Amino acid sequence: MSIKNTLKNRVSTTKFTKDNVNPKTIIDLLDFAVYAPNHKMREPWRFIILEGEGKTTFVSKYISSFKEIEQSDQQALIHKAFQAPLVLAIVMPKNPDFRDELEDLQACAALIENFLLLLTEEGLSGAWKTPMYIESDRFKDILGLSSQEIVVGLIMVGYPEQIPNPKSRKSARDLTTIYS
Ligand SMILES: Cc1cc2nc3c(=O)[nH]c(=O)nc-3n(C[C@H](O)[C@H](O)[C@H](O)COP(=O)(O)O)c2cc1C
Repeated sequence: MSIKNTLKNRVSTTKFTKDNVNPKTIIDLLDFAVYAPNHKMREPWRFIILEGEGKTTFVSKYISSFKEIEQSDQQALIHKAFQAPLVLAIVMPKNPDFRDELEDLQACAALIENFLLLLTEEGLSGAWKTPMYIESDRFKDILGLSSQEIVVGLIMVGYPEQIPNPKSRKSARDLTTIYS
């Protein structure tokens, strides 16, 4: 597929078949995604893959860390993303310099788009999620992160059961000012 076709075919997908995704496939794709531009080659990312038993254990540890009365609400919240066969967390270190931190976030976003395009090309599908709980110390702690790290996003990954139609975009022609 050409880059142009892959870009137009990538859609956020949240309905997956029950087929497992091999973590090795994800690591192979990430080895391409890391060619994203990043300032001063800080390569401001690391990755956590949750699938199979590891995903189940993580979710149950997270849920049982809440008071019993809160658990069913939390279960519903976390299920939205963790229903995917595999969840990839993109993790970035906090940067004491605000401008550097913004650049690092931008680099991570470029990496995530690369990854989503690679998934599409591979016949896999995904969705980028940023639920509020990824900012919580509880979530980070159970995931094994330090408070000095940021979860830039959770990427739901699986084989698509149903691929939604791509949403149309405004034409760049209408958004562009040309000085020539
Ligand atoms: C930074 C970022 C955060 C996002 N967070 C969420 C989210 O929390 N929940 C969600 O349903 N979609 C989330 N999305 C996905 C967008 O809603 C989606 O990309 C948009 O609707 C366009 O649809 P498409 O990806 O199918 O082209 C996020 C996208 C970006 C770039």
